[in-house]
Amino acid sequence: MANATWTRRHVLSLADFSLGEYDTVLQTAASFQEVLSTRTKKVPVLQGLVVANLFFEPSTRTRSSFELSAKRLSADTLNFAPGTSSLSKGETILDTAKTYLAMGADLMVIRHREAGVPQAIATEMDKLGVRVGVLNAGDGQHEHPSQALLDLFTLCCLVNPEYPRLKLLSDKKIAIIGDILHSRVARSNIWSLTASGAEVHLAGPPTLVPKLFAEYGSGCRSRDIKAGKNLITSFPVKASIPKPKSEIPNRKLFIHWDLESALIDADFVMTLRLQKERMSTHLLPSWREYHQRYGITRTRLKLCKPGVKVLHPGPVNRGVEISSELMDDPQFSLISQQVTSGVAVRMALLYLMGSGKPELKNGE
Ligand code: CP
Repeated sequence: MANATWTRRHVLSLADFSLGEYDTVLQTAASFQEVLSTRTKKVPVLQGLVVANLFFEPSTRTRSSFELSAKRLSADTLNFAPGTSSLSKGETILDTAKTYLAMGADLMVIRHREAGVPQAIATEMDKLGVRVGVLNAGDGQHEHPSQALLDLFTLCCLVNPEYPRLKLLSDKKIAIIGDILHSRVARSNIWSLTASGAEVHLAGPPTLVPKLFAEYGSGCRSRDIKAGKNLITSFPVKASIPKPKSEIPNRKLFIHWDLESALIDADFVMTLRLQKERMSTHLLPSWREYHQRYGITRTRLKLCKPGVKVLHPGPVNRGVEISSELMDDPQFSLISQQVTSGVAVRMALLYLMGSGKPELKNGE
């Protein structure tokens, strides 16, 4: 099992992920993919550890996937649901986290509708001097690192299933289409996919492509991210965002407000859910019009490279961001594959973050 270079206690953002860390996650996930293909599907590497899934916002894929991953690693799991918790009695989020700490949580997986909550809990745990690892399972519009890492793993495995590594995507064109403004998935994917050397092309209506991105893309023109100038840090999120890795200076990010120029010759197309619950004003005339202009269909994929594949992080608004028939077409759609990859990738993250702890416990 690979675990040579991992020193990170928390996974809160991909902004400061190194090339080595990406490859360590990919390599470890590939090992766990093999474990998952055996009859038992389980390894005892996190036996005795407690993984607390603290989901303050609804989730199907991420919560279940982290729970299953922890179980496959033989950890014990605690699942928190706000509706049946003491939050309604006035308990704060930090006190909730401390309660799980007192029950012996070694790893905390946090989802919250506000950006920065996983960071705040990680800071509190560090302040308390406890060796608890915090994993961001999606915070507001900020980041969703495990989703981007499973997307990365899915794509790298497609190029070389025997040896999935970051650089396999270096000559690829990847289009990310839709509600970039509200998407934590897009922000994390921008970090990981541009780190691979791939060209990342964002497209969507001007109301859903962040203005700060547009300043650099200037409408349909496009321009690389300048080294050291991090567009993403400028977004109005409360999270404290780490400095991007200087070893990845030439990230190739392009902006389009027309769909066609983003799709031309794309190797992969990632569509994003329109996040109605985060739209405080009317940003679109109608969902039907959005589909007509930006919806991904088999006809539109003819602009892309032959063999193009389509991703979607889910949940999907069928017939809005992607046509229903395309979503279910295994010739194009990687959506089920993404969900499957999620278990191996989350096993890798939990293992890498937690595998130092059993020795510590045994030595106590
Ligand atoms: N992709 C994703 O985060 O899905 P859930 O909201 O179902 O976890």
